[in-house]
Amino acid sequence: MMHRPVVKAELVDWMRQNQTPVQGDLASVLKQAQENNIPVIPHETVVYFQMLIQLLQPKRILEIGTAIGFSALMMAQAAKEAEIVTIDRNPEMIALAKENLATYDHLKQIQLLEGDAADVLLELTAQQAADNHGDSHRFDLIFMDSAKSKYVEFLPMALSLLTENGVILMDDIFQAGEILTPIMEIKRSQRALERGLRRLFDEVLNNPKYLTSILPLGDGLLMIKPNRESK
Ligand SMILES: C[S@@+](CC[C@H](N)C(=O)[O-])C[C@H]1O[C@@H](n2cnc3c(N)ncnc32)[C@H](O)[C@@H]1O
Repeated sequence: MMHRPVVKAELVDWMRQNQTPVQGDLASVLKQAQENNIPVIPHETVVYFQMLIQLLQPKRILEIGTAIGFSALMMAQAAKEAEIVTIDRNPEMIALAKENLATYDHLKQIQLLEGDAADVLLELTAQQAADNHGDSHRFDLIFMDSAKSKYVEFLPMALSLLTENGVILMDDIFQAGEILTPIMEIKRSQRALERGLRRLFDEVLNNPKYLTSILPLGDGLLMIKPNRESK
């Protein structure tokens, strides 16, 4: 598992070793990810999600970035009543995710939508708009774990798909601390990603329209909730 030096390495190890490991089916999918170097959410983020899901009891969850289905299956296991819609655009990942979902999604909770999230989100928001203010196409929890440069572009669509008390989570927002580096000192190939993240921070942090919280789990997890009181 990649180490990102945000929290002291010894504490990260301690958190990973001392919180209940994933069991059964999930352990098999995690092993597959580790053996094939496929990035999935780290253990401290897994246990945080398990807790959050117990507290929020989401009925519908949207994930952007399925990879091989590890986090989708983890959320399905934590929220047995929930429907989960997960999006990915990478054909290799989609093929592996389909196999894993066919094997491990025992309650058939997970729907995999194939395509670029920018297009799929547009379709989902169109379905929601056609629903005449109903909630049947909305989500109680939206988890973004895809191309980080695009989070800021996905945000307006995610907000329009969120239920009244819904929450958005975005993973890997620290970029191993690179968000602290001035943009011109960052490798050219990384700048689009960093610019996207900084536009996101300018939009949501310290803005009365939103409640936000940044958790130093994994490579940084940003939670966003519309601040209904600021209307
Ligand atoms: C870090 S992996 C997701 C890991 C997964 N959430 C987990 O923890 O098990 C990121 C995935 O996002 C997908 N992805 C990146 N940008 C995307 C986009 N714009 N639309 C759809 N999928 C995207 C990639 O193909 C990749 O499979």
